[in-house]
Amino acid sequence: MAAQLVDSFGRVHRDLRISVTDRCNFRCTYCMPAEGLEWVPRDDLLTFEEIARLARIMVERYGVNGIRLTGGEPTVRANLPVLVKMLAELDTDLAMTTNGVSLPLLAGDLRAAGLRRVNVSLDSLQASRFAELTRRDSLDRVLDGIDAAIAAGFDPVKVNCVVMRGLNDDEIADFVDFGRRKGVEVRFIEFMPLDADGIWTNDLVVGVDEILARVTDACPVEPVERTSAPATRYRFADGSGSVGIVASVSDSFCSTCDRVRLTADGQFRNCLFAVTETDVRALLRSGASDDEIGVALEGSVASKWAGHQINRVNFIKPRRSMSQIGG
Ligand code: 5AD
Ligand code: SF4
Repeated sequence: MAAQLVDSFGRVHRDLRISVTDRCNFRCTYCMPAEGLEWVPRDDLLTFEEIARLARIMVERYGVNGIRLTGGEPTVRANLPVLVKMLAELDTDLAMTTNGVSLPLLAGDLRAAGLRRVNVSLDSLQASRFAELTRRDSLDRVLDGIDAAIAAGFDPVKVNCVVMRGLNDDEIADFVDFGRRKGVEVRFIEFMPLDADGIWTNDLVVGVDEILARVTDACPVEPVERTSAPATRYRFADGSGSVGIVASVSDSFCSTCDRVRLTADGQFRNCLFAVTETDVRALLRSGASDDEIGVALEGSVASKWAGHQINRVNFIKPRRSMSQIGG
């Protein structure tokens, strides 16, 4: 049998998230300070060739079958369609998570280069609130971006909405309507303690049960059978599409997690919340062979813990914020 990236709990890892930049053209309050963060120097970013080499090793040796490009904001990286084309040759389920603001310009090129799916992050449908949350007055462009993604043939287009009590939890019904109207799947995400500004408290988390109750108030749903994906999915009883709820805090899906991550500066992480990283950039730049890189990747996954410990005394917040890890 082919080699696998497997941990001591038997979880086989087949889903790779690649952050292509830590920079972003937004400044979401829960993610970055207004002035931004200290960016990774350009020379420390992996080149497209380095990213493609690592991805190839993971796909060809270890059966990785899903790759998602993240950031910061991935479209801030120059010539992104060139990287997409290189990765598309590996024939995986190639996706991207984006703030959507560049999609009016880039959706067609990314689709043509072989990107298959996009998730657009959108936490408010109200222009003034959107501007407060992101520190950018760009709601209309993001909405245009969603339309551009649909028009370019991405299927499915999903919308990620981080639900925060008192900030946007009154918009759940509006998001349900939006999703049904546009034919996009909205995924409501519990707010996780990865914010750069340290505003996270447990009181801001709206749990799955409450999200589901509000979704059901807006439109009756029935559960869709679970997969290894973190979202629990529900289809609207009237056949008008589906929604997802990601219980990242209250019901950790760690036991079925099959994800590994590569940061923009070439650090391999075995968990979103990992406190240690494997420096694959150093290996790449010191002439390591595919075998040597494989040993490092296998070792990292083998040492993966059972799951995060949010809300327990032993939870350690990772040094990096979400924008530096890539979501
Ligand atoms: N909790 C939950 N989701 C978050 N995101 C960013 N920070 C957090 C957080 N603290 C989301 C973004 C985007 C994806 C990359 O992660 O909104 O959809
Ligand atoms: Fe940018 Fe995403 Fe962070 Fe917002 S959450 S600042 S869009 S990286």
